[in-house]
Amino acid sequence: MTVETTEHAGSAFGRQGRAAVLRGLGTYLPPRLVTNEELSRTLDTSDEWIRTRTGIRQRYWAEQGTATGDLAFEAGARALKSAGVDAVDAVVLATSTPDHPCPGTAPDVAARLGLGTVPAFDIAAVCAGFVYALASGASMIVSGLAARVLVIGAETYSTILDPADRNTSVIFGDGAGAVVLEAGSPDDPGALLDFDLGSDGGHKDLITVPAGGSRQRSEGPESDPSRFFFTMQGKQVFTHAVTRMGASSAALLDRLGWDPASVDRFVGHQANVRILHALSDHLGIDRDRAVVNLDQVGNTSAASIPLALAHGVDTGGIKAGERVLMTAFGGGLTWGSTAMVWPEINVV
Ligand code: UT7
Repeated sequence: MTVETTEHAGSAFGRQGRAAVLRGLGTYLPPRLVTNEELSRTLDTSDEWIRTRTGIRQRYWAEQGTATGDLAFEAGARALKSAGVDAVDAVVLATSTPDHPCPGTAPDVAARLGLGTVPAFDIAAVCAGFVYALASGASMIVSGLAARVLVIGAETYSTILDPADRNTSVIFGDGAGAVVLEAGSPDDPGALLDFDLGSDGGHKDLITVPAGGSRQRSEGPESDPSRFFFTMQGKQVFTHAVTRMGASSAALLDRLGWDPASVDRFVGHQANVRILHALSDHLGIDRDRAVVNLDQVGNTSAASIPLALAHGVDTGGIKAGERVLMTAFGGGLTWGSTAMVWPEINVV
């Protein structure tokens, strides 16, 4: 399918002398570990089905009373520590499970982090949210609007899952990851080199939480609670995930002039290991170059990419000087890709 673009499309990103450079990375997972075995006690599923169809072995779910903002705060604090800074010019928070429909979660997180009155806003691009948030934060830096931005991806999908729906409840986990971006040069390791972003609202119903917004008004306390649960047409989403992330990654690599074989680490949205394998094969990147942590954390939506990056660094799979390609896909539909040469940073 051809994606329509304006005559100005293509990207001048990274060719402007000023770049957004990764300076810090921090993550947080809530303490409650939920195994496949635990889920198979209440759902008609099995550890074997979940492992073989998705690659997921376990995930973490927030306790009652813990919200997305709490996870975002923890990850944000760790990212600031990782970068060795205590002030930023803006906070961008990607989430599709905000603390409230209104106000956004980012201002509260910024205040709790002691970041003063900096601009702070949420991005709702579902599982592609972190790449969109990176693009927003990086654009603020490249344009000169900010010199340092905290970008967070945080989710508590456990709060919107239908506990009786085996199609979704076994897939998603909670968590948060955050990065500090700082103004630098496009030649610096850690510079975000370019972005490829896209959406297709024609398939908005494939992933949805029907109620809670203006399309389905609240009917008061008697309203059907199931309308607030997350739904996903898994099979169709699977196909779109491979197609969209594949095309987006290929477009980005082409613009960067990177041969797929020169990509050292491939960090794809952690939804299903079969998607990651299909993408690797499609792009011509060895499967063993794909960072995989979905077995440990499940699909954490907007937190997926930073959690996978941290896992890659912690396990020695991502090293300074390596070419890292990131790509994500989610409800909307939305998708996005970016890339960098990995910098020397301490993950917290
Ligand atoms: O993060 C945003 C992007 N999300 C994704 O990329 C997710 C993409 N989709 C997927 O990863 C996969 O489609 C799923 C993991 C969600 C589902 O796997 P699938 O191989 O596509 O399964 P399916 O939906 O086609 O279902 C196959 C069978 C069905 O049974 P019948 O109709 O063949 O009898 C399902 O009812 O598997 C059944 N099934 C399950 N069985 C045991 C579905 N979920 C489960 C389950 N345990 N948890």
